[in-house]
Parts: sequence; structure tokens; C-alpha cells
Amino acid sequence: MSYERLVRPVLFRLGGGDAEAVHERTLRWLSRVPAGRAHSPAGARRTVFGIDFPNAVGLAAGMDKDGRALRAWPRLGFGFVEVGTVTWHPQPGNDRPRLFRFPEQEAIVNRMGFNNAGAQALAARLRALGPLPVPLGISLGKSKVTPLTGAVEDYVSSFRVLYEHGAYFAVNVSSPNTPGLRELQDRAHLSALLGALQAENRDRRPILVKVAPDLTDTALGELLDVCLGHGVAGLIATNTTIARPGVTTAETGGLSGRPLAARALEVVRFVAKESGLPVVGVGGITTRGDVTRMLDAGASLVQLYTGLIYRGPRLVRQAVQATREQT
Ligand code: FNR
Repeated sequence: MSYERLVRPVLFRLGGGDAEAVHERTLRWLSRVPAGRAHSPAGARRTVFGIDFPNAVGLAAGMDKDGRALRAWPRLGFGFVEVGTVTWHPQPGNDRPRLFRFPEQEAIVNRMGFNNAGAQALAARLRALGPLPVPLGISLGKSKVTPLTGAVEDYVSSFRVLYEHGAYFAVNVSSPNTPGLRELQDRAHLSALLGALQAENRDRRPILVKVAPDLTDTALGELLDVCLGHGVAGLIATNTTIARPGVTTAETGGLSGRPLAARALEVVRFVAKESGLPVVGVGGITTRGDVTRMLDAGASLVQLYTGLIYRGPRLVRQAVQATREQT
């Protein structure tokens, strides 16, 4: 069945065009998908930061924040899944509407604001679910009610309760939708945060830092210094952008999808070269060619979000195919 010609038009019209209502309905439907095996055709497997991935194509953070459809993603072909961003305190996120589609540009603007059920609820769900067929990444963020001065304790509390469940942890200091969060990308803040997380990291689980595409090269360079100084295992590049390349809208929030691809590639190239660390490339992947370009820019793994909304599950298999051609 053609996703773009048959499924997408129906999905996009559901709920009177309320994009978030469609997202919720789709997640509910996916949560009923029975467990399956990992998709791992010959040449797709990768070992990165000491983790064995059945394939190099992951689901990006934000799609399944509370881990509600974890059995479905491997069935769609994903080789790893990043849940979250979760915060220590459960929180509702920003007022609706907060998710906007731009189909012509294959873009989304969102200002969700980390709506999630909290780290403890996620830990309980993961405990009940048991082992998954693919590695699970857990993205951590700061609760809105916690001031920046309490950010370290907020992240560390989530890290502690989720520790046994994460193959890797992503430190999200790059969402544009929590006031002040991106200040945690500064040298002093990031150093304190990573130092505290590593002090708790008894099994040396890989800790990754997810960066914004809006940082200058100088700011990125400083961030990489701090990451290298604290034994970070890799970078995730990039989060959504507050810039509006090719999209005209007054809506505030982070832009994702095709218009982000060029900047995301630049950042991947820069951080891969400057840090020598493995990079998870994310931002604007909507075709096989985008995957090839990400890998050529130095990414070891890739993730998708917006492309999945516009192109459907076929994109996942196409992306895996593109990674096999690179080996
Ligand atoms: C996101 N993204 C995101 N990232 C993150 O680290 N934590 C999060 O909670 C979210 N939430 C979120 C919600 C929505 C609605 C979107 C569209 C995106 C960012 C996402 O993981 C990814 O970095 C960007 O969307 C760029 O990739 P794509 O979408 O262009 O493939």
C-alpha cells in the first residue's frame, strides 16, 4: 500500500487536520503492534560506542517520548530507538496547538515543550516491557519547573532511575522549547552537568550530547572541548532549528524536516572532524540520498523523525539500504 498516496492523505485529514491528535492516534495504534525481530539484512549491522546495532537507522527523540509503542519501531525497520526527552517531573508541555505541518516543504515546526509522563513513569513502563530487540537510547532533559541552578540534580535524578534501561543516554541541551535550556550548552553549565552524570555512571554507559544547529562554530568548538574532557561517547547532530530556511511562518518553535538538512549536514561534518567522536546524524533525512550524504559527512548512525511523517515507513527500509551500500 502506498503510504504517500493512500495512508498519508487520510492521516493528515483525521482530527480536522489537528497534527497532534493524529500523532496520538497513530501512537495508540502502534502501541498494539505485537513484538517482532530486529531488521538486520546483511551488511546493516554496526558497532558504535561499544553497542551492537542491528542496523544504523534509529527513531529520533520526541516521537515516542514515553515509550508507548516500543514494540512497533523495530517492526517498522528501525535498528535503535531513542525515547524521551523525559524530565524528572511529569509535565504537560506548552499550550496547544504546538505542532504545525508544512507539507510542501516536508517540514514541521513544534513547540511541544517536553510533554511527558516523567522519568519514573518511563522506568516503570520499561521494567514491565522487558528486553527489546534493538538498543534503547534515553533522552534526558530539564523539567520546566526546575530553575537552571537545579538542572544538574534534575538530570541526575532521571539518569539514576532510568540507568538500567538505557543502552545509551542522550543529554538534551538543545531543545528550543524549554526556556533557558540551551544555555546548558555553555562551557560551565555543560561541564557541571556532564561531570555529575559521569560520576553516577558506574558501568560507563555511553553518554551522548545532542546539539542545536543554531550554534556558531566557535560555540560548537567549545562544547566539543567540554565533551572530550568528560568522556562523552558521541554527539547527536542536530536538534530542530529556530531559523526558518525556506519556511514562512509566524509560529515559534523548532523547525525540522527537509529545510533543516543542509545545516544539519554542516554540523555533522564539523563535529565529526573536530571531535573524532562517533556522530549520530539527524535532521531533514527524507530520501536515501540524504542518508548517504550524512554518512559521507561522517555520521556513524542516523535518525529520522519528520521524514517518517511525510514519507512513511518505506523510508526506514530505504535508509537501511543506503547504509548497506556504504560498507
Ligand atoms: C522533536 N525533536 C526532539 N528532540 C529531542 O532531543 N527531544 C525531544 O523531545 C524532541 N521532540 C520533538 C518533537 C517533535 C514534534 C519534532 C518534530 C522533533 C527533534 C528530533 O529528534 C530531531 O532532532 C529533529 O526533528 C530533526 O530531525 P528530522 O525531524 O528533520 O528528521
